[in-house]
Amino acid sequence: MEILENHSLEPLNTFGLDVRARYFAEVRTIEELLQLFERFPPASVPHLILGGGSNLLFTGDYRGLVIKISLKGLDVTEETEDCVEVTAAAGEDWDAFVGQCVERGWGGLENLSLIPGQVGSSPIQNIGAYGVELKDHFVQLEALDKKTGAILILDKDACRFGYRDSLFKGEGRGRYVILSVRFRLSKRNHRLSLGYGAILAAMEQKGITEPTIADVREVVCDIRRSKLPDPAITGNAGSFFKNPVISLDRYERLKIKYPAIVAYPDPNGMKLAAGWLIEQTGWKGYREGDAGIHPLQALVLVNYGKASGSQLIELSEKVKASVKQRFGVRLETEVNII
Ligand code: FAD
Ligand code: EPU
Repeated sequence: MEILENHSLEPLNTFGLDVRARYFAEVRTIEELLQLFERFPPASVPHLILGGGSNLLFTGDYRGLVIKISLKGLDVTEETEDCVEVTAAAGEDWDAFVGQCVERGWGGLENLSLIPGQVGSSPIQNIGAYGVELKDHFVQLEALDKKTGAILILDKDACRFGYRDSLFKGEGRGRYVILSVRFRLSKRNHRLSLGYGAILAAMEQKGITEPTIADVREVVCDIRRSKLPDPAITGNAGSFFKNPVISLDRYERLKIKYPAIVAYPDPNGMKLAAGWLIEQTGWKGYREGDAGIHPLQALVLVNYGKASGSQLIELSEKVKASVKQRFGVRLETEVNII
């Protein structure tokens, strides 16, 4: 395993930010990871665990050790006539993994198609899309506890999943390195999640009356390609903000003032479409130098070329201030600021 110094992270973050790591190592086995921690003990040098770099915003060079996780492997851990438990190593590409599950006829993850990043990062913010969240098919994960050096199994309760949230974004932030994740998927009688309006509309348009999991994957990929920018062309990290959840009371007051407001029921009240709030304040399609708001999806901040992390944050603060001023709603950043 090579330790590189002053290593460029530009191709390793989907915002395409031109920053460097003081030290950089790519680990392909758990043994390599343990060796690395012996050489650079967590207490002596700051560590950043890097997956696909698709949910990060660097504000400058990283003055510690960046560890790129490249653990590979896929195992069927348990199998019955109805379902299968599959364990994927943290360094597997998320969408390639979903593609393999769909090809084998295993249902559950198809709505999460085409989300960038790696398997090991998927529990960090409990990735979600089109009515499905990672937690819906999650069994457990294996993680190295940097504090004790132990390798642990954490089940669904221990991971404390919430909307774009988990133990790993709260109390456990920076403490664990996720090594592998186990999912339970259906082999038959899988109930598809078709509730998201855009999926139903696309099925209807294609004349599909009895969709398969492969149809759902295809439709989800089509929808995503039609409105989300491709990071290979335009730097971005998906939704920059979370959709804010407010009480039913507050929602009803806002609805009187803004009858067209877009919101969905949530266990804690109503989840507002932040994209709508941002669009109403006039920011959609706005550009300031190379930092901008995507013209087709107001929740997505984009780097058109040479924007810096600070410029993107500055823009995001202006958006937050406008939304707060107009609607009294506080937007929370989804992307991890480093
Ligand atoms: P990284 O960005 O590399 O890391 C994210 C965080 O996880 C960092 O804090 C990092 O330190 C930590 N981390 C990474 N790997 C490990 C590990 N093995 N152990 C411990 N910590 C780790 N997200 C959604 O939920 N739904 C979407 O629909 C969605 N759409 C997107 C569309 C686009 C175009 C883009 C660019 C992003 C989108 N995202 C979406 C956000 C992103 O894809 C996910 O958050 C994804 O899980 C990030 O994976 P990554 O490997 O790139 O993580
Ligand atoms: N909308 C607007 N203007 C916009 C964008 C959205 O008015 O510019 C309104 C529309 O009414 C639209 C509604 O908001 O129907 C919802 O938009 P969309 O379906 O695009 O979803 P989203 O709420 O903007 C969330 C997730 C995405 C996920 C999609 C699909 C968050 C923060 N974002 O976006 O996740 O892919 O739903 O399920 O929850 C991510 O987390 O990075 C991400 C891309």
